[in-house]
Amino acid sequence: MRVTATINGELMRADDVWEGESLLYVLRERLGLPGSKNACEQGECGSCTVYLDGVPVCACLVAAGQAQGRDIVTVEGLASGADLHPVQQAFMQAGAVQCGFCTPGLIVAAHDLLRRVPHPSDLEIREALAGNLCRCTGYEKILDAVRLAAAQLAGDGE
Ligand code: FES
Ligand code: FES
Repeated sequence: MRVTATINGELMRADDVWEGESLLYVLRERLGLPGSKNACEQGECGSCTVYLDGVPVCACLVAAGQAQGRDIVTVEGLASGADLHPVQQAFMQAGAVQCGFCTPGLIVAAHDLLRRVPHPSDLEIREALAGNLCRCTGYEKILDAVRLAAAQLAGDGE
């Protein structure tokens, strides 16, 4: 089947999609968007998190056909050309990236949190990121990154 969707603001089309394929597979293998990671393919780790019509979802659990006509934003789409989004920058500045497998999903989840809750408490950060597993960092650097991104988005530069 053919799947057409708006992805990162651009109308994209994938042909010969098998009915059992996931949106994650289509993004990574057919459309050249490898930012979203495939760490479990079972909806357990959050590394494949993308926005689907503005709502964060695990792309590995979305059938490709369900993406037809929808609006999708991946971690690549958060940047403005070569300029990284402040959340992306904060993850690098805070040292919150080790192997990087969890990072794209965490960035989308953190981005979603900060657009809903610009000044989250630590508890709100932990709750928002609870579906995103990281095997490397111990999470403290990730919390630092979200706090840093919140400060930078608020414009106080802390
Ligand atoms: S790869 Fe989708 S939740 Fe783990
Ligand atoms: S940095 Fe390796 S899983 Fe999070």
